[in-house]
Amino acid sequence: MIGKANGAISITGIGAYAPEHVITNDELSQMMDTSDEWIVERTGIRERRVAADDQALSDLALPAARDALEQAGLDAGTVDLVIVATVTPDMAFPSAGAIIADELGAPDAAAYDLSAGCTGFMYAVAQGYGMVAAGLSRHALVVGGDVLSRILDWSDRGTAVLFGDGAGAVVLERVSEGGFLGFELGADGSGGPQLYLPAGGSRTPASAESVAERKHYVQMNGREVFKFATRVLVTSAEKVLAECGKSIDDVDVYIPHQANVRIIDHAAEKLGIPKEKIVVNVERYGNTSSGSIPLALADAQVEGRLQEGSLVLMTGMGAGLTWGSGLIEWTTNGRK
Ligand code: UT7
Repeated sequence: MIGKANGAISITGIGAYAPEHVITNDELSQMMDTSDEWIVERTGIRERRVAADDQALSDLALPAARDALEQAGLDAGTVDLVIVATVTPDMAFPSAGAIIADELGAPDAAAYDLSAGCTGFMYAVAQGYGMVAAGLSRHALVVGGDVLSRILDWSDRGTAVLFGDGAGAVVLERVSEGGFLGFELGADGSGGPQLYLPAGGSRTPASAESVAERKHYVQMNGREVFKFATRVLVTSAEKVLAECGKSIDDVDVYIPHQANVRIIDHAAEKLGIPKEKIVVNVERYGNTSSGSIPLALADAQVEGRLQEGSLVLMTGMGAGLTWGSGLIEWTTNGRK
C-alpha cells in the first residue's frame, strides 16, 4: 500500500516509557554462552530494559500516553481513538487499547490493538492518520510498545540478547499545513516462519506439551531476517520518498527501526544518508519491537532534532514479515 497524504495531519505530542530495570550484556553473559564483545560487535546493543514482574504492556504504555497527551495539551476525555500496536498485549482480550482508554479516562474512544510485529507502530500511525483524515477522529492516540521479555527464551542466545521492553505514544491531530506527506506499508506472509511465536493461538493452543516444547517463545531465523531487513528498509524508504516527490537529500531526520546497528548502517549506506541525520538508541534499549520508533522519536525530540519544518522519515520492519514507512514534515502549527 502506498499513498500521498491528502490532509494536513501531524504528531502534536510524544511520550515514551521504558522500565527501570537494566540488563547489561555482561549480566546476560552470566546467564548464557555469549559475551559483551559479541553482542556489541554484531548488534551495537549494550543494554536493554526489562519490565518488573507486575508490569504488563498497559503499565508501560500508560505513562507514555499520559506524557504524549500532556505535550499535546489535551485532556484524555477528548481522545476519540486509541490504537495500540503490540504483539504482547496484557492478554489476548480484552485489548490493551480498551484497558488503556479506560485507565486514561477516554470513555468515548474507539480502542483496539493492531498486530504487525515490529512494524506495528508505523501501521498504527498510518491507520490513525486515515481515521483523522476521514473525519472519524479528531484526537487520535497511537501507542507502540512491547514486553518481549515475557516471550523470550532466556536460554536462546540467538534471540534473548536482541530484545528489550518499552513503549511510546503519539497524538495525531489536524494542523494547518505540513504534517504527514505519505506512507508505504507492506507484508510478505510467506516469510512468516522466519520470525514467529508458534503456540498460544488457535492453531496450537497452550497445552502442557506446547509449554514443554518451548513453543511459547519467539523463534527466529536471524540471518534471513537480517537480509529481509536490510532490503526493505531501503526499498520502503525509496518508495515513500518517490511517491511524495522528495529525495533522500531532503530528509533531515531518519528514524529506522532500532533492531541492530549493522542493519541501520547497511540501510543508511545504501540510501546515502549521512550518520548525523540518523537517530540511533538501540545501544540503550535493544530492539523494543513496536516501541522502537516512538522511543527513538522521543529521544530525537529531547535532543532538539524535531524542528518546525524538519522532514522526518520513519521506517519499520518486522514479523509478518511486514514493513512500513511514513514521511512527515514536522509541525504542530495551527492545530484544529
Ligand atoms: O525486528 C526484527 C527482529 N530481528 C532482527 O532484527 C534480527 C536480524 N538478524 C540479526 O540481527 C543477526 O542475524 C543476529 C544478530 C541475530 C546474528 O548475527 P549474525 O552476524 O547473523 O550471526 P550468525 O547468526 O551468522 O551467527 C554467527 C555465530 C554462530 O556461531 P558459528 O555457527 O559461527 O559457530 C552463532 O552460533 O555467532 C553465534 N552466535 C552467538 N555467539 C555469541 C549467535 N548468537 C550469539 C550470541 N553470542 N548471542
